[in-house]
Amino acid sequence: MTIETTPLSSIIAARIADQGRITFVDFMAACLYEPGIGYYTSAGRKVGAEGDFYTSITVHAAFGRVIAREIAQMWRTMGNPGEFTLVECGAGNGRLACDIMDFLVEREPDMYHGVRLVLVEQEPSLEAAQREMLAGHSDRLVWLSPDEFASGRFTFSGCLYSNELIDALPTHRVVMASDGLKEVYVTLKNGEFAEEADEPSTPELAAHLKRVGVELHPTQHAEINLNAPAWLAVAASALQQGFILTIDYGYPAAELYTPRRKSGTLLCYYRHQTEENPYIRPGLQDITSHVDFTTLMLCGETAGLQNIWFGEQYRFLLATGIIEEIEEIERSVRSDEEKLRLRLTLKKLILPEGGMGDTFKVLIQSKGVTAPRLLCQQKIGG
Ligand SMILES: C[S@@+](CC[C@H](N)C(=O)[O-])C[C@H]1O[C@@H](n2cnc3c(N)ncnc32)[C@H](O)[C@@H]1O
Repeated sequence: MTIETTPLSSIIAARIADQGRITFVDFMAACLYEPGIGYYTSAGRKVGAEGDFYTSITVHAAFGRVIAREIAQMWRTMGNPGEFTLVECGAGNGRLACDIMDFLVEREPDMYHGVRLVLVEQEPSLEAAQREMLAGHSDRLVWLSPDEFASGRFTFSGCLYSNELIDALPTHRVVMASDGLKEVYVTLKNGEFAEEADEPSTPELAAHLKRVGVELHPTQHAEINLNAPAWLAVAASALQQGFILTIDYGYPAAELYTPRRKSGTLLCYYRHQTEENPYIRPGLQDITSHVDFTTLMLCGETAGLQNIWFGEQYRFLLATGIIEEIEEIERSVRSDEEKLRLRLTLKKLILPEGGMGDTFKVLIQSKGVTAPRLLCQQKIGG
């Protein structure tokens, strides 16, 4: 396997040579977010055909439109408040926010009237792309850095949503050795990155597995994302009344940490190819891990949230009206070829096997809303 020397690999190598080995979570944080040269903090398209991977947002605007349907239902279930704040964390280029706002202005003018949209994004240079994408809604926009979001000074009522944010948060890696749980550290051997397993850098790793009721099998590797519950705790405390809607790929803990996944779920993306080795092109490839939804649910409860709905993305999309959206869009499409393309891309969103519909999950949590009645809670087809 050829290791590409990148500006970032030299910096991380110098850091290790200087200070000693680093935890995998620190390695991943540098790979993704080192200012100016991390994967997400450097120039270039990441998502879509010219990038390294697709997200549901890039598949079709119908995805954002059905999320908007559910958000409008949240507004209704809260009694049609005159002011409603939407917060998107990890907003990327603003595509999803734009699809949601376009739907609201078109279909829910009463609600749209009182909506402000807060965009939170780790990479500040994306603000220009968001500004351009959301030009039609410019009077509604507010930008917050993740630090401002976490400062404790930001509060809101409404809905905070995210798509593929949690899988992009840096994660610890652990392995179960014959003498107990070890953490994976990154060191240098013969000038190249190498892994070393040793005593965990924090007791939080063992505590995490205990909390979700998981015992790893001998030699089993796993990722433990301590940034995810920390992020949710911040989100829950900022939310005064309303909902948190999280879309990402992952499983409940028992399924995520099954011994069948002996190597964990860490995966890299580079030009639409998956790659298991996170060390070969630091800063040039995406690194992700599947989300542990049990932790989000448990941590939500501790932080005063109620778990309202959790399930596969395809169930969510079907219950919130993706079919109606498809049919409506189809009516405005003229050529048969375009109609077929539309059907195929939408199939990708909802196909349980091989599409994005099964591994992708939706979690909805609420605070201060009595007996919410959401679209996704309805029986599909009923
Ligand atoms: C996998 S991308 C998803 C982008 C977009 N939501 C989509 O689905 O196409 C993850 C995004 O989250 C951003 N991000 C990472 N950590 C963040 C944080 N703590 N707060 C806000 N954004 C963050 C990254 O910079 C990146 O743009």
